Amino acid sequence: MEIILKKCEETPKCDLKIMMYFKESTLDKLDDSVRKIIFEEEKIDGKFCSMFYLPYSPNEQKYLFVGLGEKDKFDISQIREIGSKVVQKLKTMKNISTARVCFCAIEDKQTALKNFAQGAFIADYDFDKYKSEKAESPQQTLYIGKKSEDDNQIFDRAKYTIEAMNYARDLINEPACAVYPEIVAQKAQSLTGIETRVYNKQQIEEMKMGAFLGVGQGSIHEPKFIHMKYTPNCTPKKKIAIIGKSITFDAGGLDLKPPASMRNMKEDMSGSACVLGIMSVLPKLCPDVEVHGIIASCENMPSGKAYKPGDVLTAKNGKTIEVDNTDAEGRLTLADALCYADELGVDEIIDIATLTGACMVALGSTCAGIFGTNQTLVDTLIDCGKKGGEKMWQLPMFDDYFEPLKSDIADMKNSGSRYGGASGAAVFLSKFVKNENWAHIDIAGTAFVQKSSKEMLKGAAGAGVRTLCEYIMQ
Ligand code: BES
Ligand code: MN
Ligand code: ZN
Repeated sequence: MEIILKKCEETPKCDLKIMMYFKESTLDKLDDSVRKIIFEEEKIDGKFCSMFYLPYSPNEQKYLFVGLGEKDKFDISQIREIGSKVVQKLKTMKNISTARVCFCAIEDKQTALKNFAQGAFIADYDFDKYKSEKAESPQQTLYIGKKSEDDNQIFDRAKYTIEAMNYARDLINEPACAVYPEIVAQKAQSLTGIETRVYNKQQIEEMKMGAFLGVGQGSIHEPKFIHMKYTPNCTPKKKIAIIGKSITFDAGGLDLKPPASMRNMKEDMSGSACVLGIMSVLPKLCPDVEVHGIIASCENMPSGKAYKPGDVLTAKNGKTIEVDNTDAEGRLTLADALCYADELGVDEIIDIATLTGACMVALGSTCAGIFGTNQTLVDTLIDCGKKGGEKMWQLPMFDDYFEPLKSDIADMKNSGSRYGGASGAAVFLSKFVKNENWAHIDIAGTAFVQKSSKEMLKGAAGAGVRTLCEYIMQ
């Protein structure tokens, strides 16, 4: 679908007019004859997200009436869901090739535009490359009403943000037979406007990333360490590093996962997909921030060469780790990536990872966990999440969580207690960052949508993209 921003007076006559209205609204601007039909004969009630299609009207215009619910219960971010549901509905309307929508009913038109556009672009996505019969999608254009010149920037930001999200969704939805470390590296190298360096296995050895190498050694695919850099045209306001966990398949290693837990472990590179998606649009979003994207990509497999429980690995910063469980691999790869980012001397480091089932148990599948050493950074990220439509909840990093990670023979173990597992993992990571402006986002629960809801469609979520784009752009 083509989704275009256009001034109402410049929009051509469309097959369909989409009207949003609050429950108490009487839609005064409509023809009396149409109002009579919808309110008296059809009795539309304005319930949130309810849709009523009027295929005929005395003025020969087709309408789609979309309820916004009660005005005083309405939150502007709900428009994101409306945008998504409208596009989902349009896709089923084979006889409609042009439609227009405006935000007449809503006061804060700019926030409405941003959220509606985001929702619309989120819904205008499907992953059908492996289907031999593709769902026929009609050629459609949706015109969104433009009120002022400022709207261009709002619309473009929403568009590029969701382009980044959809980039991530594509990469995550791909099966692990198609996405392994070399492919992740190729993706990074093919980004325009981004400087990329890829380190091969030998170079990773030279960098002494023993923890990362340990995880990858059981796979037939070589690990790749990826460093991308976006440089703004002006002097950067600040420098940040974003690190994404990239286990292209997490079988658990010798501590093999049971089938049900392994089934969807192609999603274990969602953090890196988020980072790649963001890097891919930075040259279009043009923030005045220097952004480093860092990915330690490998596959966690059992094999004769695999790392074993009890092995001792040495991370880049010299700390030794006894492998307690080969399935707690994400923190090992992130440990070395964090050390690397730390050495860049950036102002802030943010990592994003499908790190622990415990986080999913604690917060469910619509809210990510966030941890950090700088409360302002954490608060700002939570707020950016709100603006972007992603929920995050802070979890603690008390020293106590390190107790179970103490090892008899090394500096620490990679796992210890089942209890407080998300916090334990975060405290483990903290041992590899000196930078005091560090935040860690655990997206194990939110990376993959099991059932479509709100603006989200089933499948890879592209979790973290909207939050981090908001953060980089603020
Ligand atoms: N990739 C998993 C975490 C995960 C679980 C992501 C569910 C997405 C959905 C991670 O590597 C893992 O296996 N974590 C273990 C850690 C444990 C062995 C300490 C877990 O959470 O069970
Ligand atoms: Mn694992
Ligand atoms: Zn994992």
